[in-house]
Amino acid sequence: MMDDYNLPFWIYLAVVTVFVGGAMKKVLASHLSAGPTLVAWLGATVLVERLWAFCLPAMLLLVLLALMAFVYSRSRTGPPPSLPAQGKAVFITGCDTGFGNAAAKHLDSLGFDVFATVLNLTGDGARELQRRCSSRLTLLQVDITQPQQVQQALLDTKAKLGLQGLWGLVNNAGVCANLGDAELTLMSNFRSCMEVNFFGTVSVTKTFLPLVRQARGRIVTISSPAGDQPFPCLAAYGASKAALNLFTNTLRHELDPWGVQVSTILPSSYKTAPSSNHTYWEQQHKQLLQSLPPALLEDYGEDYVTETKTLFQSFAEHANPDFSPVVDSIVQALLSPQPQARYYAGPGLSLTYFIHSYFPFSISDRYLKRMFLKKTLMPRALRKQSGLEVDLGLDNRNNNEEKLQQL
Ligand SMILES: *[C@@H]1O[C@H](CO)[C@@H](O)[C@H](O)[C@H]1NC(C)=O
Ligand SMILES: *[C@@H]1O[C@H](CO)[C@@H](O)[C@H](O)[C@H]1NC(C)=O
Repeated sequence: MMDDYNLPFWIYLAVVTVFVGGAMKKVLASHLSAGPTLVAWLGATVLVERLWAFCLPAMLLLVLLALMAFVYSRSRTGPPPSLPAQGKAVFITGCDTGFGNAAAKHLDSLGFDVFATVLNLTGDGARELQRRCSSRLTLLQVDITQPQQVQQALLDTKAKLGLQGLWGLVNNAGVCANLGDAELTLMSNFRSCMEVNFFGTVSVTKTFLPLVRQARGRIVTISSPAGDQPFPCLAAYGASKAALNLFTNTLRHELDPWGVQVSTILPSSYKTAPSSNHTYWEQQHKQLLQSLPPALLEDYGEDYVTETKTLFQSFAEHANPDFSPVVDSIVQALLSPQPQARYYAGPGLSLTYFIHSYFPFSISDRYLKRMFLKKTLMPRALRKQSGLEVDLGLDNRNNNEEKLQQL
C-alpha cells in the first residue's frame, strides 16, 4: 500500500516546491512588479493541487508537468529582446572611476552617444575614457553639488544634441565619505553624503528631465541596499541613499504619464574607489580621531574606532572587482522594452532582502551585523562596566552594595 502512493507523493512535493520556489524567486527579484505574476503562480499552484485531487494517473501528470517545464524553459531562454543603442544619447555622472567609468566604456562600445561627467578632466579616469572610447563620447567636467556646473553641462549637452532629446540619464555619482557608528560620525559627513548622493542627484535629474521627457526616455539611478536596510556603521551613507530611493520611487509613478521609465540599481559590495583606497581611509581615520570630542572618544575608546576602520578596509579588499553585473543592469534598464523598477546587481542580495523583509528585527539586525562588519570590541565604557560586574560577582554581597554606592 505504501508503495502505491510513494512516487506520486514525491512528484507532488516536487511540483509544489517548484511552484512555491518560483513564486518566492519572483517576489525577491522584484518587490514591486511581482504582483500579477505572483497571482498567476498562486493560481497555477492551486490548479495543480486540484488536478491532483482528481487523482490523475501518474503518467498523465508526468506528461503534463514535462510539457509545462518545457514551455516554461522556452519562455525563459534566449536573450531578452532589447532596443537598439544606435542614435540614443545617454548622460552619465561620476565616470572618473568605478561603475561610472566601466559603464561609460561599455555604453560607448554598444553604440550609444555617451556624455560622461568626471570630477577631473585631466585625471586618470578621464584620460582612459578618451583613449579607449569612440569619438561619440563627450567628456564633461561636473561636480554635481555645484548648480552652475550642472547648468553648464546641460548647455554643452544641448549644443551637441541639437533637436534630439536625451534617451538616458544615469545617476551614478555618489560618495561614502566615512563610516562608523552614527554617534561617532561627524555632522560634516552626514552633510557631504546628503549633498552629493541626494541633493546632487536631485539637481542633475531636475536639470536634465526636460530633455529626457522629450525623448520619452529612461532614468537610471545607482542606489544601495544600505538605503533600504540598516547596515551597521553606514548611517550617513544609508540615510542619503534612503532619501534617494524615495525620490526615485516617487519619480517612477509621476513620470509614467510622460512615458519616462525610472529604474533603481542596487549593487552588492564592489571594489570601487575610494572604498578600496587604503590611504584615503587612513586619512579619514586620523581626521576623525582629531575631530571627535574627547569625552566621546573616551567612552568608545580609540581601539574601537580603529577596529571599525580595519574591518572595513579588509571588507573592501575582499569586495568584488568585477563590475559587470552592475553595468549589465544599467544596460537592461536603458534598453529593455519593459525595464524593471529595481535591479539587484550582485550575489547575496536576495538572501539579505528576504531576511530583511520577512524576519523579525532581532534576526535581521544580527544578520546584517554578521555579514558586514563583525566587531569584536565593545565600546570602552561598556567594557569597563562589564569588567566591574565580573569583579562584583566575585565579591560578597555587602561589598557589592558598597561598590555600587561608589558608582
Ligand atoms: C587631476 O588629475 C591630475 C592628474 O592625475 C592631477 O595632477 C590633478 O591634481 C587633479 N586635479 C584635481 C583638481 O584633483
Ligand atoms: C587615495 O586617496 C588619497 C587621499 O585621498 C589620494 O591622494 C590618492 O590619489 C588616492 N589614490 C587613488 C589610487 O585613488
